[in-house]
Amino acid sequence: MVTGGNAGIGYFISEQLASAGATVVLASRDQAKADRAMQAIAARVPGADLRRHPLDLADLAAARRSGELLDDLHRIDGVVLNAAALVQRRRLTTVDGHELVFGTNHYGNAQFVAAALPSLLRGADTRIVTMGSLAQRIGSLDLDDLERSGTTYRGLRAYATSKQAQMLFALELDRRLKAARRTTMSLMAHPGGALDGLTPDQPPAFERAPRERLTASLMRPFVQGKDRAAWPAVRALLDPAASGGELWGPGSPSGSRAPRLDKLRGALTDPRLARDLWQRTADLLGLRWAV
Ligand SMILES: NC(=O)c1ccc[n+]([C@@H]2O[C@H](COP(=O)([O-])OP(=O)(O)OC[C@H]3O[C@@H](n4cnc5c(N)ncnc54)[C@H](OP(=O)(O)O)[C@@H]3O)[C@@H](O)[C@H]2O)c1
Repeated sequence: MVTGGNAGIGYFISEQLASAGATVVLASRDQAKADRAMQAIAARVPGADLRRHPLDLADLAAARRSGELLDDLHRIDGVVLNAAALVQRRRLTTVDGHELVFGTNHYGNAQFVAAALPSLLRGADTRIVTMGSLAQRIGSLDLDDLERSGTTYRGLRAYATSKQAQMLFALELDRRLKAARRTTMSLMAHPGGALDGLTPDQPPAFERAPRERLTASLMRPFVQGKDRAAWPAVRALLDPAASGGELWGPGSPSGSRAPRLDKLRGALTDPRLARDLWQRTADLLGLRWAV
């Protein structure tokens, strides 16, 4: 399953998994977009086995239902937690009144995973891959004010902090899975930088205007298209040698080299912060964990 499989990097993760022969479930908040993405994949991967699944991470009840619905799937081998709210210009809120970016990326994913985990634990060697970001390095988590309601809203800071929270959560989940002697693993990936304007068109899912492509082409040495940006997550999901707690990133900024293992840096090296965040989140959302 690929969350946000209808667009951007998630689309290419889905296409690449389908090319590798996987049955791919595209989890999306917009069923029409998911249908167009499935049409685009089917046109490129003959015989692709594709499904769609409802998911809205900005609504905690919907995120829980979506996670519980994994129970209806015949089998689930892994989930890529790719869907995310990106940088916003101003403070917006989720259905539940949380700041939109933190509420979607951290709370929404935590709720989804808590509900999906019993289904994932039923399979052997299942994987949960969290899509992180290099931006986590400039995130600043305040456990007493997770949504930073006491400060002036800064879109990039809010996004970076939400990605830091997602990655800390992925690490704590892996520690818990190991402590419970489960074979399910929690890994992380990050795509480096990726622009739509450097991404090949995939009609009818998406096409870019020539002007956007021209502007983006100036950035080509430093960033990549979303097709290559998908590689680290696909590697984390499929490589038999990959293991829990790892972070996979691009081999080079332009995506010209194969993905490689990245070092954990900054806040990600603080297991106590991860444990405290886990507890705060569980208390706030009333989550019950299977591990
Ligand atoms: N692009 C980069 O340079 C970059 C860098 C570092 C990390 N990342 C990470 O890579 C992942 C994908 O990014 P991208 O660039 O491919 O972004 P994107 O093109 O904007 O795609 C984001 C996906 O998330 C979905 N989404 C957003 N809010 C949602 C919600 N409330 N419920 C369910 N789905 C929701 C979107 O659905 P809709 O189509 O319905 O909006 C879309 O499918 C994200 O986790 C992002 O943080 C990207």
